[in-house]
Amino acid sequence: MAQYDVIIIGGGPGGYVCAIRCAQLGLKTACVEGRDTLGGTCLNVGCIPSKALLHATHQLHEARHNFARMGLKGKTPGVDWKQMLAFKDEVIGQNTKGIEYLFKKNKIDWLKGWGTIPAPGRVRVGEEEHGARNIVIATGSEPATLPGVEVDEKTVVTSTGALELSKIPKRMIVIGAGVIGLELGSVYNRLGTEVTVIEYLDTITPGMDGEVQKTFQRILRKQGIKFVMGAAVQGCSVAKGKASVTWKLRKNDSEHTQEADCVLVATGRKPFTDGLGLDALGIKMTERGQIAIDAGWQTSVPGIFAIGDAVPGPMLAHKAEEEGIAVAERIAGRHGHVNYGVIPGVIYTAPEVASVGETEESLKAQGRAYKTGKFMFMGNGRAKASLASEGFVKILADRETDRILGAHLIGPAAGEMIHEICVAMEFGAAAEDLALTCHAHPTFSEAVREAALACGDGAIHS
Ligand code: NAI
Repeated sequence: MAQYDVIIIGGGPGGYVCAIRCAQLGLKTACVEGRDTLGGTCLNVGCIPSKALLHATHQLHEARHNFARMGLKGKTPGVDWKQMLAFKDEVIGQNTKGIEYLFKKNKIDWLKGWGTIPAPGRVRVGEEEHGARNIVIATGSEPATLPGVEVDEKTVVTSTGALELSKIPKRMIVIGAGVIGLELGSVYNRLGTEVTVIEYLDTITPGMDGEVQKTFQRILRKQGIKFVMGAAVQGCSVAKGKASVTWKLRKNDSEHTQEADCVLVATGRKPFTDGLGLDALGIKMTERGQIAIDAGWQTSVPGIFAIGDAVPGPMLAHKAEEEGIAVAERIAGRHGHVNYGVIPGVIYTAPEVASVGETEESLKAQGRAYKTGKFMFMGNGRAKASLASEGFVKILADRETDRILGAHLIGPAAGEMIHEICVAMEFGAAAEDLALTCHAHPTFSEAVREAALACGDGAIHS
């Protein structure tokens, strides 16, 4: 029986990053992963492949809608769907092989198969049992199911099936206006599919800043995506490769039905902990089926830790990575820490949407005094030169101390620019600190500085 300092179960962004940090800190480390490739949902069927399709279809959109205006003439590109999927698979392959290389470089053993924990300090993979001073559960999440809607991953799909449809559907119904629904809805909308998003709530992207929600939905509508809001999906039937979705409008209980060639179920994800043997170990779970942990990511059983989508908090790859690093440091006797107040969230549509920290709604609910600095991309030269001047940057700062409490961006490269504000928040910066920082001209990032200026004496270009 091989003996390890740490065995991590799950090779996604939480697990593989944790494994690398453990190895870097001198711990004898193994990582259990049952897929044929490392990287988990994010690299194989999530973040990375969807970004490949978003990138490719954004280029198509640019060619079809903006090239002529910029004086670029010639035949508008058509779509070779098989090749686009091959490009996506190539990107996945490069990334998953990269992690395999990092495992070899850091001398991490990849235990291939699905792991169970027969007892504290032991991990079983297939017929073999391994000893581990510490076990880290990083098994991630799976799509949540919806009553009355049976997924076959062909006509009725989750995000996994939506990344490998045999052909581009003519009509698609997306259930859920969350991140997955809007990113993948955008992909197919750009490919010419008629996309209808059906959402239970009255606003898209729950939890996001209200002003961003409204602007984002208006832009998506303009791009051609249709929305049915305040609608509870009742069921979905499939006949001869066509799906039929029925929903009830919450405001008047009226029932509606619409047909589509493909239905994407994007109503959230749930922790994946099946087959680990948690019940027998007596590991405590939360009411929402997550693994309960203490402030040091330890479960109710000493020596067994849990991170990522399987535990409470936002289901984001980078949140899992942060926890993976922090738990590795704790195991190595250091002081691992995650600042949950500064975890950015990004939606990779065009324009991109990015946020960090408090929203106006959350500050109001807490009764906190705040001020708002807002700058429209219309006033940004670089954005105009890039035909990407929709959207804004909004910074929220404490009304008394000027300390930055949150930021909400919708616009070009928002997912990159948000980090300037994250760094500022990590350093406890005031909006004035950003406003006093020289920003290169012409850049999209100048809009961040202008929003910071707007928290004080006013932006220059508005
Ligand atoms: P989500 O929780 O973001 O959104 C689900 C939406 O479905 C909600 O708006 C909800 O109100 C709606 N809904 C639920 N039941 C419904 C029903 N019966 N009828 C109509 N609407 C209904 O979940 P999503 O988009 O599936 O994403 C899952 C997780 O993956 C999220 O935590 C998300 O943050 C993460 N993710 C993050 C990405 C990123 O950071 N760019 C990309 C993709 C996923």
